[in-house]
Amino acid sequence: MTSLLTAPVHPLLDAAGAAPAPVPWRGGPDLLIPEIAAAGLTGRGGAGFPVARKLAAVSRADGKVTVVANGAEGEPASGKDAFLLAEAPHVVLDGLALAAEAVGATRAFLVTAPERVPALRALAASREDRVAVEVRARAETFLAGEETALVAALNGRAPRPADKARRVTESGVGGAPTLVQNVETLAHLALIARHGAAWFRSRGTAAEPGTMLVTVGRLRGGTPAGVRAGSRPRVAEAALGTPLVDVLDAAGVREPGPVLVGGFHGAWLAPGEVAAARLSRESLAQWGASPGAGVLAVLAPGASGPAETARVTRYLADASARQCVACVNGLPAMAVLLERLAAGERDAGLVAAARRLAGRVAGRGACHHPDGTARLVMSALRVFEKEWS
Ligand SMILES: Cc1cc2nc3c(=O)[nH]c(=O)nc-3n(C[C@H](O)[C@H](O)[C@H](O)COP(=O)(O)O)c2cc1C
Ligand code: SF4
Repeated sequence: MTSLLTAPVHPLLDAAGAAPAPVPWRGGPDLLIPEIAAAGLTGRGGAGFPVARKLAAVSRADGKVTVVANGAEGEPASGKDAFLLAEAPHVVLDGLALAAEAVGATRAFLVTAPERVPALRALAASREDRVAVEVRARAETFLAGEETALVAALNGRAPRPADKARRVTESGVGGAPTLVQNVETLAHLALIARHGAAWFRSRGTAAEPGTMLVTVGRLRGGTPAGVRAGSRPRVAEAALGTPLVDVLDAAGVREPGPVLVGGFHGAWLAPGEVAAARLSRESLAQWGASPGAGVLAVLAPGASGPAETARVTRYLADASARQCVACVNGLPAMAVLLERLAAGERDAGLVAAARRLAGRVAGRGACHHPDGTARLVMSALRVFEKEWS
């Protein structure tokens, strides 16, 4: 993974280059949570939930509490968590230690790719954190990083999403109230503890402060690859609110064409929209998109938007845990419709059927997998409209 600095804001990437420093301590849990609230830090794993609210909820929980650093990164188009854990693992572990302190945790886990486990175990063992960190290998599936699937795996069960009737913040690992945060979120938390809320807010927008890591790649054959031929995706760091074209430009993409924003559960933007969009929830919402976990997958030159969408939809249909009707029936049917369209069948009924199905599966699963797949399909029907008719 090649890193890239989108000057002049790159506190996470700077921290990656710096030597580990003592874990900062801003007055204990009672002060850390308000500091994180003042910073306005939101989760970087996809949903963008306010971190302080989750910390506060878990810190009020009865009994033993567990914290989990989510580095599963099941999204094929994302590489930023792997990059962060390779380049700045100490900052992630600082964040995990601070979060554990803030919520009074007695157990802490870090879940990551199997090949990264030995080095991270050694690093965790070399530290003097109050709560020892247990480093675990992720399951190798798209859904493995969804928090209830992650918790199921840590509980020794199959890594499938569970019914959300009970939140993991109430009953998670071993039945204990559990805080799950993305590894990048924890790294930001550590830097806020070190430098303060005002420092964090000096970048980004008032509504969406700070920076985020972005993985920029090209999509061809249903596989995200690097921007240059044969190269791997690149990881950039940009302030929230940065024009998308600036992030892409810094990654070497000059005339982007359509971009799948937010990853496989994301939404396509047409070239004119890419030119107008910014890296923020507020800006991207007008096209039904969001930064998600910070993925910009550019349609590769010569690749077909409909064909790529059909491939990704098939991948998502195959990736479902096949527990809910929306996934068992809806997603494979949607993949078939898109495959027929991508193969050149021209029948207005196909587009209408795909639209109807997408509307029907959204919000109908135990997890957000059908919603994300529906979002992708709806955006493709809109952006590639001319190619379907
Ligand atoms: C299908 C699906 C897959 C997900 N995969 C990941 C993942 O690989 N890594 C991650 O951090 N969060 C993932 N999430 C989000 C997690 O469920 C959870 O919201 C997140 O880890 C919380 O951390 P954050 O608030 O710091 O973002 C996924 C969510 C869904 C619906
Ligand atoms: S919605 Fe799909 S992926 Fe989510 S739990 Fe149900 S079957 Fe599994």
